Amino acid sequence: MRRIDRIVILTGAGISAESGLGTFRDEGGLWAQHRIEDVATPEAFMRDPALVHRFYNARRIQATDAQPNAAHQALARLQSDFAGDITLVTQNVDGLHEKAGAQAIHMHGELSRALCATCGHRWDAPAEMEVGEACPACSAPSARPDIVWFGEMPYHMDRIIDALHTCDLFAAIGTSGQVYPAAGFVEEARMAGAATVELNLRDSDMSHAFEDHITGRASKTVPTWVDRLLS
Ligand code: APR
Repeated sequence: MRRIDRIVILTGAGISAESGLGTFRDEGGLWAQHRIEDVATPEAFMRDPALVHRFYNARRIQATDAQPNAAHQALARLQSDFAGDITLVTQNVDGLHEKAGAQAIHMHGELSRALCATCGHRWDAPAEMEVGEACPACSAPSARPDIVWFGEMPYHMDRIIDALHTCDLFAAIGTSGQVYPAAGFVEEARMAGAATVELNLRDSDMSHAFEDHITGRASKTVPTWVDRLLS
């Protein structure tokens, strides 16, 4: 068996599903209820900022009320107890990894943060953001949710790619593998010689690229997988 010192874990909406937060592409998911081009692009925000704020305000309230589940807790335990290095990368904006006590790299931003579209300053978002809110740094009335929208560049990519190129194991948990660049992480890790495992309820669009598959609900599969890594 190969020695595992450095692990990169990518999480998606599926890890928060059992905390009561809807996923995007499962049946009845967010993208069945809203059109991406209406609420999750820079153009949408320019066209109708009130609609975009309403969408993210509702999600911020849900996320604030949500509690981490056994899968988030297991990853926090892994991050504190594993002898090697754990890089936890999340596409989720809900803050549940932090509520569980882990530290995640937020490649798609965070609901709890606001971003100035004029100067790039970031600060803690109020519970409900309003159109035309002023930036505390430059005073421009251009506060927006600190969310990476379609057509924008995800955050921290250099750090993530470095971690992928030096890891021994890459795991993807609860993500459909439909959105790049995250969908391509498994290939990056494989090219670097890492073992790969997918934990999901069902096959994803990227399942073919993983060596191992653990099928089931994250709240069951992730704690068992973490126990194995820590034993
Ligand atoms: N346990 C494990 N996996 C689950 C569970 C569960 N309880 N429930 C759902 N899943 C899996 C689904 O099978 C699916 O593969 O989670 C995945 C959710 O996929 P998406 O809804 O597409 O979410 P995600 O992959 O995180 O989306 C990526 O798309 O819209 C953007 O920016 C948004 O970060 C998001 C990105």
